[in-house]
Amino acid sequence: MQTFNALVVNKEEEQFSVDIQQLTLNDLPEGEVLIRVQYSGVNYKDSLAAIPNGNIVKNYPFVPGIDLAGVVVSSEDPRFKEGDEVIATSYEIGVSHFGGYSEYARIPAQWIVPLPTGLTLKEAMTIGTAGFTAALSVLRLEDNGVTPEKGKVLVAGATGGVGSFAVSILSKLGFEVEASTGKESEAAYLKKIGAASMVSREEVYDGKIRALGKQKWAAAVDPVGGEPLASLLSQIQYGGSVAVSGLTAGTSVPTSVFPFILRGVNLLGIDSVYCDMETRLKVWNRLAADFKPAYLEEVIQREVTLNELPEVLPTLLKGQARGRILVKL
Ligand SMILES: NC(=O)c1ccc[n+]([C@@H]2O[C@H](COP(=O)([O-])OP(=O)(O)OC[C@H]3O[C@@H](n4cnc5c(N)ncnc54)[C@H](OP(=O)(O)O)[C@@H]3O)[C@@H](O)[C@H]2O)c1
Repeated sequence: MQTFNALVVNKEEEQFSVDIQQLTLNDLPEGEVLIRVQYSGVNYKDSLAAIPNGNIVKNYPFVPGIDLAGVVVSSEDPRFKEGDEVIATSYEIGVSHFGGYSEYARIPAQWIVPLPTGLTLKEAMTIGTAGFTAALSVLRLEDNGVTPEKGKVLVAGATGGVGSFAVSILSKLGFEVEASTGKESEAAYLKKIGAASMVSREEVYDGKIRALGKQKWAAAVDPVGGEPLASLLSQIQYGGSVAVSGLTAGTSVPTSVFPFILRGVNLLGIDSVYCDMETRLKVWNRLAADFKPAYLEEVIQREVTLNELPEVLPTLLKGQARGRILVKL
């Protein structure tokens, strides 16, 4: 039987391994649609999947990769046919269902999005879950009345995957974006992708969380979470909104009720994984149209092959990433 390459993580007793193996179609999980994967990407969750105690992978051996885009080889579902270009991200992909770090993937039809007109497969995976999450964050801010006229919008973790896309999308829509980063050296990059100004992480959170601070931003996209989020909430303008998607700085957010009850601040939870299909299609369609960042190529930090992945995956866990790492299969 024909074999193909996949990155496999395995854990047997104390032994943990990450390597490229040859699989057959019989190794793939159930699903109606067989896809020849062309691109995947590296997300924070993928890096966690490649370490022994990352708490992402449910069963071993396993093929990670929460994002994939490719061409349909065969489909048992009438919604898709051979030759269709498709995107599959989220749900159980790369968590309990073999993911995108594989030349072939078999995916349930209800998890698949047709590639929207206006995007190539490569662009879709440059965007990936990080860009989708940023776009969903912006959509939620829009739905809550945030407009460019309301004032500056802060993007936390701005050089990261979610952050970079939030900067690009918001600036494309005419917002004045202030980028918060721990990487002073990336000022030129942030400016290029659309940031009007930069603040250091310490300017957002100086180690002290105040009940209420100076009202600096109309809204924020926050993939960082933790104590910096508590500090950020106290600096949001009256009636503003914060879209929170991540936990890079921790899971505990020691805020008080004051931003909410004295300034009417909205805390908007962003989940890309089980976001309903209607919203998912809306977000991808906007990513192919008015949300499409002008500098998609700039956001690609690196394009790697499967063979390079074992060395590349840990970099996100060290907060060293800038933009997106694209995987070509
Ligand atoms: N809710 C969802 O559906 C969803 C979807 C995708 C991702 N996420 C989550 O969103 C987060 C970001 O994902 P990503 O793919 O963008 O990761 P990433 O590329 O690693 O970006 C994270 C960025 O956060 C900043 N950062 C790192 N450590 C920090 C700290 N201690 N304090 C403040 N900022 C820090 C860094 O940017 P600077 O150096 O520029 O500050 C870093 O580049 C992760 O927690 C991920 O799990 C959630």
